Amino acid sequence: MEIKRYLVTSALPYANGPLHIGHLTGAYLPADIYVRFLRLTGKEVVWVCGSDEHGAAITVKARKENTTPGAIIDKYHEQLKMALAGMAIDFNIYHRTSEPIHHETSQDFFRTLYEKGEFQEIESQQYYDESAGQFLADRYIMGTCPKCGNPNAYGDQCEKCGSTLSPTELINPRSTLSGTIPVMKPTTHWYLPLNQHQEWLKTWIETGMLEGVKHHEPETWKPHVLGQCKSWLDSGLEPRSMTRDLDWGVDVPKEIPGSEGKKLYVWLDAPIGYISATKAWAATHHETWEKYWKDPETALIHFIGKDNIVFHCLIFPVILKSYGGYNLPINVPANQFMNLEGDKVSTSRNWAVWIHEYLEEWPGQQDLLRYYLIKTMPEQRDSEFTWKGFQEANNNELVNNLANFFNRVCVLLHKYYQGEIPAFNPDKAFVGTEEPDFDSFHETELLYLHDRIQDLNQSIREFRFRDALKSLMDMSSTGNSILQSNEPWKKEQSDPELIKVVINYCAQLATALSVVIRPFMPFTSDKMRAQLGLSPLRDEDELNQLLDALSQGEVLLPPGHKINEASHLFSRIEDARIQAQLDKLKRGAALSAPAPAVHVPLKETISIDDFNKTDLRAGTILTADRVPKADKLLHLTVDLGFEKRTILSGIAQHFQPEVLPGRRVVIVANLAPRKMKGIESNGMILLSENGDGSLRFVEPSDGAENGSVVK
Ligand code: MF3
Ligand code: ZN
Repeated sequence: MEIKRYLVTSALPYANGPLHIGHLTGAYLPADIYVRFLRLTGKEVVWVCGSDEHGAAITVKARKENTTPGAIIDKYHEQLKMALAGMAIDFNIYHRTSEPIHHETSQDFFRTLYEKGEFQEIESQQYYDESAGQFLADRYIMGTCPKCGNPNAYGDQCEKCGSTLSPTELINPRSTLSGTIPVMKPTTHWYLPLNQHQEWLKTWIETGMLEGVKHHEPETWKPHVLGQCKSWLDSGLEPRSMTRDLDWGVDVPKEIPGSEGKKLYVWLDAPIGYISATKAWAATHHETWEKYWKDPETALIHFIGKDNIVFHCLIFPVILKSYGGYNLPINVPANQFMNLEGDKVSTSRNWAVWIHEYLEEWPGQQDLLRYYLIKTMPEQRDSEFTWKGFQEANNNELVNNLANFFNRVCVLLHKYYQGEIPAFNPDKAFVGTEEPDFDSFHETELLYLHDRIQDLNQSIREFRFRDALKSLMDMSSTGNSILQSNEPWKKEQSDPELIKVVINYCAQLATALSVVIRPFMPFTSDKMRAQLGLSPLRDEDELNQLLDALSQGEVLLPPGHKINEASHLFSRIEDARIQAQLDKLKRGAALSAPAPAVHVPLKETISIDDFNKTDLRAGTILTADRVPKADKLLHLTVDLGFEKRTILSGIAQHFQPEVLPGRRVVIVANLAPRKMKGIESNGMILLSENGDGSLRFVEPSDGAENGSVVK
């Protein structure tokens, strides 16, 4: 299928916090480069984004800030929009999911899938917070991750190890609303039976074939994206609930029986936000939105971070296909994560470089941040932002290479030719790009430029933006070495014809750079063009025009063209400014860190013999029951291998008895028996405290049999 136009999307950021470098380098900058590139090559492209304003991300934040979800989304929607615009992230529309058109669109999806029988209605037991009167899905519930032991994993995901979770998998679950231990209650929801779509999804992802037609080239997908999809498919897809018991979100359409109190799952409505945004854009641009979503000649591309892969590569495609008539993405070039100074970027720990602060503290320096974030973009694996790296990228690359070359060309033009491109003899040999050959200006040198730009373009088409940026900087290095080898400052007097051709060639190179640089550093492109006496680019096919001219050996700046005043594109950053940023980062994180735990004073020293009197054993909980009239106690039976023990433990406020059977524990096995509430307790269970006051069992090692000694 021929591609006629593009519909590009960037993940809708949750309107629950400001924008940071991780967002920018993950889903917005790469899309911006790609879209600007498409526009420069005359392609028809619409790029949509907006704020994701539903889900627990919003309501939990509202609770924390003691305000309403409405106030939260208004505040952060504005902030996100300003920060993105400040960085010249140039969407066709930045929409929001609280708009009526979005509610209508996502309800239409739900209704249609419901009527087509695409959902399964399933009743299940789910955690419920009795004090808050609410079911606890997703971020409303926390507990210990069963995969990595992180005590603060969410009901939908562990942010530490990245595993996808369901609330019932959490160990020691607790409500994020009240901190209490939830109970189980039945509730009914509509599930998307992903298992029934497994087969076509697998074929579509792995071979690119969809209903017998080649849809995309899997070889062009990033290996880590394919890898994640395959691992989901290999472990077998399961039905996934598309609704929630919440009071914030898009309502399940009223006419559907049982819709009372039910909202759409945020991951159902959010990606539909791409469609509503396109509708809103089309309505104000005399366009039809369907062309962008339903015409098979439109290529759909999703830019996202790696935590969104399953939703964009598996779940949303199932939704689109079940509805019918929609295109599926031809690529999902997800990025991995960017760390900061050796640690994960984290909003809650205030470990981030915030874009709104950057814009204030480094005014007019957007392109510097763009440059560094592209240079370190986590395209294939996690990457790292360091302020030192930022400084070095500026001083060694932007200042010493790019700005230096560009400034030398402009200054030399003024110095020797009154700022006017000189007439020159194109047959005059000079040390050109393929040293030590003396090259012909038209036939070799302009073609060389042409080919370099084609290579760079190819990298962009393949979503290799780091490589593309590198090619750009290599072109600038080439310019510098041509100046260095021909030494205008020495030879202008002795060989004026040589210097005319050299400076002429460098001026052509600088002009080409002013075009090619635009997808990466749009502000710099404007500055370069202003100095060269050219109008700013307007994304109207200028890149193809440039390539045509070069391939025909035509100069880009003709003799007689006048340039403007020269000024520096970038300037050096001193150590002190970088140190100030590092200090600020550490200060900010310290301020938001929880107060250090108060240390309980140590007990008096005991001898090894005293300690050896304690008999610690590994065991497994067999049964757990509440003790009538005792709200702290649980009645446990523990398997010690050689015998079963009855133990009363004061953990009822921390664990639901239902989840305890099967848990491994360490017990003090020789403690004198003690009667409580008429039951004799024979031993004590060891627990450790998590930082937040919740408890966790001390566990024997995996291979320890019941009854074995712990020492
Ligand atoms: N808000 C989600 C996140 O930040 C992304 C939503 S992307 C969309 O992880 F597809 F749902 F829009
Ligand atoms: Zn984990």
